[in-house]
Amino acid sequence: MEKRPFIIDCDTGTDDAIAVMAALGCEDIDVKAITSVNGNVREEWTSANNRNLTEYLGIPVEVARGAVLPFYPRGDYYGDTHGRTGLGDVVIPTAEHSEFSKDRAPEVIRRIADGEGGALELLVIGPMTNIAIALSLYPELAGEIRHIWVMGGAVRGGNVNTTAEFNIWVDPYAAAMVFRAGIPLTMVGLDVTEQAILNGEDEKRYRALGTRAGVLTADILQYMFQRNQKGGEDAMMHDALALAAAVCPQCLEFKPYFVDVECQGVYTAGHTAVDVRGVSGRKPNAMVATDLKLDRFKEWLFRCIEGCGRS
Ligand code: RIB
Ligand code: CA
Repeated sequence: MEKRPFIIDCDTGTDDAIAVMAALGCEDIDVKAITSVNGNVREEWTSANNRNLTEYLGIPVEVARGAVLPFYPRGDYYGDTHGRTGLGDVVIPTAEHSEFSKDRAPEVIRRIADGEGGALELLVIGPMTNIAIALSLYPELAGEIRHIWVMGGAVRGGNVNTTAEFNIWVDPYAAAMVFRAGIPLTMVGLDVTEQAILNGEDEKRYRALGTRAGVLTADILQYMFQRNQKGGEDAMMHDALALAAAVCPQCLEFKPYFVDVECQGVYTAGHTAVDVRGVSGRKPNAMVATDLKLDRFKEWLFRCIEGCGRS
């Protein structure tokens, strides 16, 4: 079966790195490019992490730099969830042979979308600034992207405050533009990603693979466990679950809802307004993940990481 062409737009990021390795090891998809965006850490780190990671894995992929700031600057929100570099305390060699793409992220998205003739899918696992800029520069892209798979938002609650999830909160204007673009979209929010937690048994299993991807995944998990012991976030596979929505739909359950993004408000900017009761009268514009089959997801993720760097 023909591999599905994907671009991964990410703010790598500890969980982003695991999602990228899973995507590179997933036999169903062909990662055409990795585009970097400001988010968990500054773009200079997210892009460096993407380039270092792909070279370390020995998997040549076009890596592009991307948006440094969201549309509406929010000051300094670079907490310590992902550490100073974005990969926690995990260190991988600095790339020596690969270069960044000559094009920035929006151009890469446009060029590859044109080349794939409507088959391109986007895995968007950071703030959506690059996607919104691409759509602003090239509105015709809305008809050339087959599906956008988003890690972001929540039906209820948030992780930045009581109403907003980080990826949407960083750039609500960009997110609103993407949700309103009319592109088929699946939203994988905190309601399910906060259940997608790996544990010590998983870490041992990944380490036993002995591959660069397996050991790196184990090292990242170990960092996440230590982070959690200090009161930080647990080993939540937010971003890998968005990939699972695309290639392991049996790992999740989905419902069609109308979703829009609130861009104003001290406590509400970045809120994904998910119309679960149909009171808006608006047609659903997204499939929203509502339930997770954790064991299936864990097994699927392990098989992807096992395949990363093996071919
Ligand atoms: O809220 C979780 C999301 O924010 C994940 O994508 C994580 O990597 C951070 O970007
Ligand atoms: Ca991310």
